[in-house]
This record gives sequence, C-alpha cells and structure tokens, in this order.
Amino acid sequence: MTIQQIYDLGIKLGIENDPRGKKRVEQLLEKAKKEYKELSEKQKKYFDKETLSNPYSDSRILFGDPKKEIKKIFAGIDADTPEILLVDRLNQKGKEIDLLISHHPNGPALASLHDVMDLQTESYAKVGVPINVMDSLMSERQSIVMRRIHPSNHSAPVDAARLLDIPLMALHTIWDNIGDHFMAEYLNKKEFETVGEILDYLMEIPEYQEAKKGKNGPEIVSGGPKSKVGKIAVFFTGGTNPSKEAYVELAKAGVGTLIDMHIPEDGLNELKKMHVNVINAGHMASDSIGANFFLDELEKNGIEVISGGGLIRVKRNKK
Ligand SMILES: [Fe+2]
Ligand SMILES: [Fe+2]
Repeated sequence: MTIQQIYDLGIKLGIENDPRGKKRVEQLLEKAKKEYKELSEKQKKYFDKETLSNPYSDSRILFGDPKKEIKKIFAGIDADTPEILLVDRLNQKGKEIDLLISHHPNGPALASLHDVMDLQTESYAKVGVPINVMDSLMSERQSIVMRRIHPSNHSAPVDAARLLDIPLMALHTIWDNIGDHFMAEYLNKKEFETVGEILDYLMEIPEYQEAKKGKNGPEIVSGGPKSKVGKIAVFFTGGTNPSKEAYVELAKAGVGTLIDMHIPEDGLNELKKMHVNVINAGHMASDSIGANFFLDELEKNGIEVISGGGLIRVKRNKK
C-alpha cells in the first residue's frame, strides 16, 4: 500500500464507524463542497481542500510523498520529536520503517483539533441532550480548545520528521471512531444491573487486561461497583473532552452511567453531584482499541507493524 492508500483506508473506516452515521457524514461533506464553491478567491487561498473529502481535521498526512510504497510502519499513540528520533534510531539499527503513524496529532492536525468536536454535539443529542443546548456549549468549548492550542509549538515534530525524512501521518478521530463504534456495539450485547458488572465485562477486553497489569486498568471514578447502571453513554471520540456544563446536561438527560477514556476533574465533580456513575476506561488502552482494528487491516494488506509509544498492540486477525 502507498501512504495515500493507507490514508484513504483511514478516511473510509473513520466514516463507516462515525457515531453520526455514514449518511450524515456524507451530507456534511456535500455541504462543505457547496460552501467552498461560494468562497471568494482570497478565501480559497487558505482553504484546506482536504476537508472536502476527509471530514476529520485532526487526521492528515503530515509529511511524506503520498505515492511512497509502504512495507513497514511504526504505530504509536503519540508522535512527538522523541518518537521521530526513535524511528530514526531504529532505522539506524536496520529496522527499515517507512512510515510513522500516530494517534494524537501534530502540526495542522492539532491546530484544527477543535473542528472535529462538532461530532460530539450529535453524539450527546443521541443520548437525549437537546441539540441546541449542546451546540451552544460545544461552540464555546471549541473556541477555548482552539485558543489553548493556538500558541503551542505544534509544528516542531513535523519539522523533525521532515529533517530526518521520516513520513508522518496522524489518525486521530479516525481511530477514535473505530474504538467508539467497537465499544458501543460491545456494550450493547449485554444487559447490566450494576456498574461492577460493566467493569468486569470491560476487563474481558485484552487491551484493558494489559493496562491493568501496568496498574492502569479501567476504574470506577464516580459511584461504586454496586451502583445501579441506568442509561449508558459511551464517548470515545470527538477530539477532546467537552466542558463541565456538558456533563451536567448529560445528567439532566437521564444518563446513569458514563464510560469515557478520561474525564476532567471539574466535569467529574458535576457528575458526582448529580449521582451519575463514571467509568474511566483508561486513555492509552482505549486509544489502542481503535488503533488495533486499523493496524489489523494494514497487516491484512501485507504491511508489517511495529508498535510503541504507549500503544498496547492486540491482534485480532485470525492466522
Ligand atoms: Fe483517542
Ligand atoms: Fe487520546
């Protein structure tokens, strides 16, 4: 596969696993195309045309020739300058890695992280938060996230990749969509009375077993093992956490148990006050789930995968 083919496969799987549904995502892409046509020449100059075919602003080829044929990749959760140096060092030792794929983005894919957060508005609406409320809260939160990332030096790792000539790709929301879809389907297969039962069921997933061995397994951070479950909500995708006000809305919408990768302290405090149970499934392990399904697809296509950088590699391919 070429870099372009790997990237295109990412977009395809990202859309197929999108919590908004494929049809809705295609609708949004059509809308973007229409809006682009209406822009002035001056506005078009800085418009990122990738957004017309890739609905995920945080998933991009950051460096490298798209036509390059790939035989071996290094896949990790983060790809900052240390990981790029690591790949270069591994290549010095004869590993012949052709491409570094990270989950967490850098460069323009990080600078536009706030754009993918739109997705959450619809995910929250699905569990009963009025869409107008969530839309308003999310716009506010998106501005904060944008301003938080804006001053950071997010292009330095991309510079390192360029200087060391290591092709670099970030697949953020794409992998998170895959993980989110898996988790929603997985939980749907069973009925739960207590939060402890959910935790036990999560512990059947090999990524969480590995994480627990590393003292980083899923934890109940609000409620307890005997707490009644009520309505379950899972949010594994959409850029980053919403504001604490969004968590209040979740409680008001009748969610009884929230399963998240990680949750900010202020949001958690609100949920505790509203008696909503929360399971922190764990950041790296949960990110690894989405990654692993994608990496299995690459292996099916004959690509060798070296994992590192916090990624817990579990293969589900049948040999
Ligand atoms: Fe993630
Ligand atoms: Fe993450």
